This record gives sequence, C-alpha cells and structure tokens, in this order.
Amino acid sequence: MKKLFLLLMALFTLAQVKAQEKSVIQISTDNTDLILQVAPNGRLYQAYLGDKLLNEQDIKHFSPYVKGGSDGSVSTRGWEVYPGSGAEDYFEPAVAITHSDGNPSTILRYVSSEQKAVTGGTETIINLKDDQYPVEVTLHYIAYPKENVIKTWSEIKHNEKKPVTLWRYASTMLYFSDSKYFLTEFSSDWAKEAQMSSQQLQFGKKVIDTKLGSRAAMHTHPFFELGFGQSAQETQGRVMLGTIGWTGNFQFTFEVDNVGNLRVIPAINPYASDYELKANEVFTTPEFMFTFSNNGTGEASRNLHAWARNYQLKDGQGDRLSLLNNWENTYFKFDEQLLSELMKEAKHLGVDMFLLDDGWFGNKHPRNSDNAGLGDWEAMKSKLPGGIPALVKSAKEAGVKFGIWIEPEMVNPKSELFEKHPDWAITLPNRKTYYYRNQLVLDLSNPKVQDFVFGVVDNILTENPEVAYFKWDCNSPITNVYSPYLKNKQGQLYIDHVRGIYNVLKRVKEKYPNTPMMLCSGGGARCDYEALKYFTEFWCSDNTDPIERLFIQWGFSQIFPSKAMSAHVTSWNKKTSVKFRTDVASMCKLGFDLGLKELNADELTYCQNAVANWTRLKKVILDGDQYRLVSPYDGNHMSVMYTAPDKNKAVLYTYDIHPRYAEKLLPVKLQGLDPSKRYKVKEINLMPNKKSNLGANEKTYSGDYLMKIGINAFTTNQAFSRVIELTAE
Ligand code: DGJ
Repeated sequence: MKKLFLLLMALFTLAQVKAQEKSVIQISTDNTDLILQVAPNGRLYQAYLGDKLLNEQDIKHFSPYVKGGSDGSVSTRGWEVYPGSGAEDYFEPAVAITHSDGNPSTILRYVSSEQKAVTGGTETIINLKDDQYPVEVTLHYIAYPKENVIKTWSEIKHNEKKPVTLWRYASTMLYFSDSKYFLTEFSSDWAKEAQMSSQQLQFGKKVIDTKLGSRAAMHTHPFFELGFGQSAQETQGRVMLGTIGWTGNFQFTFEVDNVGNLRVIPAINPYASDYELKANEVFTTPEFMFTFSNNGTGEASRNLHAWARNYQLKDGQGDRLSLLNNWENTYFKFDEQLLSELMKEAKHLGVDMFLLDDGWFGNKHPRNSDNAGLGDWEAMKSKLPGGIPALVKSAKEAGVKFGIWIEPEMVNPKSELFEKHPDWAITLPNRKTYYYRNQLVLDLSNPKVQDFVFGVVDNILTENPEVAYFKWDCNSPITNVYSPYLKNKQGQLYIDHVRGIYNVLKRVKEKYPNTPMMLCSGGGARCDYEALKYFTEFWCSDNTDPIERLFIQWGFSQIFPSKAMSAHVTSWNKKTSVKFRTDVASMCKLGFDLGLKELNADELTYCQNAVANWTRLKKVILDGDQYRLVSPYDGNHMSVMYTAPDKNKAVLYTYDIHPRYAEKLLPVKLQGLDPSKRYKVKEINLMPNKKSNLGANEKTYSGDYLMKIGINAFTTNQAFSRVIELTAE
C-alpha cells in the first residue's frame, strides 16, 4: 500500500514537473526575456522580465508565486499575467467582467500556447479560460529580436447566453521589483506638445489618461518612460519606454503596491465605457509596445525608431516628400490664381509638393472661416471654379505634386451635411450644444458615417488620381457625449468611435496603399502607433517657433523616428533667423509654410540650398540612427545627430538657444561613429557669402576623437545654429 502510494506520488510529481516544464513560456528578444509560468493552480504568472538570460537551466529557479509577500505563508498570489477582478489580487485588475448572472469575478487558467514566426519576429499566443464561465482570453506577444521591442495585446470573448459587461480591458500587465521607480510623462496642450517631466512613483497609483474621445492626446500623449533606480537618463541607466496604439481615450496606470513592487497597466480608458460584449464577439485591446535599455533613453528610442520604420509606420522604409503648405501664408484667403503662384514658389524653393490647407470647400456654406462648411467636401466654386482638377493641372504645370487638407470626421452645424444628417453628429438630444472650434464630431460608430468619411478620400482620389498626399486633421474633442446611433449602449461610444475610424483608415489604405498621409490634430494631438499604420507622418505642433520646437521635437523623438515627424519653417518667432528656423525643421520631415515674398534674396537662396541639402542627406536624417547629444532641458544649447547605418555619413545639428555672456562652452561629443574611421567635417546650410567660423571645418578627425573629445560647435550667440556634415574618407 505504502509502495503504491509512493509510486503514485512519484508519478504525480513527475507529471507536475512535466506540466511545469511545458508551462514555461519564454518571450525573447536579443536583449530581453519575458518569462511566464503556469503555476500548479493552473494560472499564468510573470516569473521574470529583464535582461536576456544566458542559461536556460536558470529558468527552473523561478517561482510564479508571491514576490516579497508579507504574511510568510505559501500563497497562490503572484504576478498574474492577466488578473481578473473579484479574486484575491487586491490591486488593479487587467480584466473585469460582470457576467450575465451578475457575478463580478473572473479567474483565468492556462489552456495552451503556441509560438510562430511573423514578419520581423516571433509571435507567442496564449489561451486562457475561466473554469466557471465560458470566458476566454487570448494574449498575443510579438518579440522583435533585433530591435528589442515587444508588442502585446489581448482578445477577450465569451459564450454566455446573454451579453456580459466589460469594465476593465488592459492591453497587458507588467510587473517590476526595484528600489525606486521614476516616471517621465509627456504633458501637452495646443502649441505645447510633448513637454517632459519626471517624478518618483511612490506607494499608490499614478494615472495618466485622457477623456477627450477625439483629438484625444491633446493634454497628454500615449507614451511614457520609466527609470529604474534613478530617473530616466539619456545615455546611462536602466529604462523602459512604452506606448499604446490607440487614437482615443487611453489610460496608463502605474501602481506601487504594499511591498514596493510596481505594476504597469496600459489600456483603453474605461471611463464612461462599460462595454456590453455579445456572445462570440471578440474584444481586441490596443497594441502596447515596449522596449528596455541599460544605456538610457537614447538607445531605447533608437530601438523604437528602427522597429517603427521596419514594421509599424506606413511606408516606413519609403521616401518622404518635402512640401510648401499655404495655411499660415494665406489662411482662408486664396483663389485659383494665388494657389498657382504658390505652386510655382514651391518649385522655385525646390520642394516636392504643394499642400493646399483648410478653406477650399463648401458652397451653400462656404468655408471662409472655421465656423462653416466642414462636411461639404466639394470645391468652393467662388474661390476655385475649376475645382481640384484645375489645381492638379496647375501643380503639374509648375512641376510639383499636389496634396490637400481634409478634416473628414467633423461637421460644422452650418453645413449641408448637418442639415441633411443631424443624427450623424455626436450630440446630446436634450441639452444646449457645446461647440469646440464651432464644430461637432461625426459619430464614427455608425457604419453609414464610416462610408461617408471613406467617401471623402475616395471621391477626391477617384476624380483626381494624381492627388499625391492628404493632410488629415482633427480639431475637436468629442463634446456633448451622446451617439444617436448607439442609443441605449452609450458605454460603447468612446471605443466604437475609434474602431470606426480604424475601419475607414483600413479601407483607405487597402484602396490607396501608396498615398502618403499626414496625421494632424490641431497640432500634435494624435500621435500613436495604431494611427501611424495608416499615416506616413504626423504634425508635431502648430507651434513652429523654432526655440519651442527644439523642446517639442526632443519630446516626440523619444518615441518616434524623425521620418514620422513633420516640421515646417514658418514666421513664428521672427526674432530668430530664417536659417535657425530652417535648421530646426531640417532635423525632421521638412516643409515650409510661409510665402517666399517674405524672404529677402539671401534668405531665399539659403532656403533653396537647405532644401537641396536636406534632399541629398534625407536617407541619413530620416533613416539613420538618431543620437540626442545635448538636451534643451539642460540649459542653453541643444544638439542631435544622425548616423547612416554603415557609419560613413553623419549629420550633426547644434543650436545655441539663449547662452549666457561668456559662459563656458563645452565641445559636443559625437556618438554612433566608427572610432577607426576618419571623418571630414564640413559645415553646410550657410547663409550666402558667409564663411564657416567652425574651427573644425574642412578638417579630418577620427571617429574616436570626435566621440571622446568632440567638436567646439556651440557659441554664445543667441538663437544660432549649425548643420555639420561628416563624411568618412
Ligand atoms: C489645425 C492644424 O494644426 C493646422 O496646421 C491647420 O491645418 C488648421 N487646423 C486648419 O484649420
């Protein structure tokens, strides 16, 4: 009897070991391991998230259960990968469901998992299931080894007889144990996007969220940085960068628990969004992307830049067009004649395209200011009798491409669209309407509205296949939050509205895969990696004061490659030179938004030369590795450089902002060069007849020297800039 018992025990232990062996799931990049483990209770826990482990055998040392538990007893509590509400975890859940019988608990157990190769990496798919309710969750992780990025999202579905209510639906949950955690967040508003600030996370929750619905990232952006042990630094220390791909209300929760562990929960904001999920309907969460570095945010940003260009950004590998925009030059005041003049100016400047902005449409309610016409997407006959075809023709004659502005998700009440379809706008039936910029948001949860919005692009391109570019704007948050279409399911509005936008964007991309588009939202209030699957670039800010732009571009560059960031030379801050303004815009996707008549002969020659240089060097600027050398947050200067992957070419930008009189100037130490190569240094983008006063100009240095000793490029001049080309000999 005793023997039989021992044998059974041995078999049982063996089976457990086997089950546990199989139940370790390793999600790996070249530098990071995320190890998940199925515990004997059948639930899935995060066993490890950190630097890649060198020895597979070490995995057996992990335990899935409690980390630093205070009661000392053996507990089934741990870092559950996708914890449900109503169980023994007393902190924020990943998923919360009120089942059709009113029960609020969900406990998910591991069912199966698989790994398969996908473009750029390996996808891990894990199936979980509740054993009391027919609820299933599928976790997805794609690990991109080279770029050291992991992208993760989840799917929730059920097969209960009646719909269930979902009230938490995280993309994922990640846990950390460290001495201290520091969060860098990116606050924002019109004309002051991507402002960085850091703080230590203490016990309790820090939540970053938005409730704007549309123009959703106006007050804060959907990304963050974490510093472990110290605040996130540029070139040293362990950091994580995270970003959620959701063009609506998002929420990041950072919760430090009773034992000092941190959980990070990226999600759609559940605010006013109890979601009624029908049987077999799949609720897919947004994708969350994250990367780590032990060498600070510079390297982590380069991970994301490379990943975005390789796998996420629309036409991430492709070329980008320089352009001349007319918005700040003409505002709503233009006609066919003036536009054809501006197209000639675009050609004269040397840019690829002329971009016509707001004000070209509306007949019964002409769009001569921002209070009428949105929704009526026919060319305004009084201004443009020949319509878009005449403009395309003029652009062709001038020798530039033609792009056009639209804001198809919005409607002015003064429009034929609103007269015909008042129920297509999101607006409360029983209260005084509140208008933001005199407009309302169209209800994209309604499939008919989706067809209409798709039609705005489709009609323009059907009539004018040569239209080469769209600037897609979005100027209003959702106001008067009520969908006439969703009726008694208002909890779905914020989520289904965003999904409706994606339905439209998918159709646009399927039908017009090669048409570049700029994502714009009253400046940079839309900047996320889901939208950027459909857009080649985004507009960082209406604030084009070059001093402010140094900060704004520094902020966005933490997450996005320069290729995705549009920057224009305008008349903001005329106290700075045209050269300074142009040099700042030249670090990103270059455009102009001013009349050439504003420029004197030297300035015009300078701009033509700068456009030519940018075009010649754009492979390095847009596709090279970015090194942020000197932060504008640290004082009176700023410097950034880009290096070609083969390290044969680099472009260095240096800016003096407001230096003090006779302040001590330090050389700029370069990064990312080949120490053994020799580089010729040449200052470019000089004003006509101006010689470079850079000591290093036209000299040759080793990469080693340039990185250890650097170049004396800074000055004590106010708002002074240099662009320096480095060429390996
Ligand atoms: C807001 C954008 O940010 C501007 O660039 C411009 O396109 C205006 N909208 C037009 O209304």
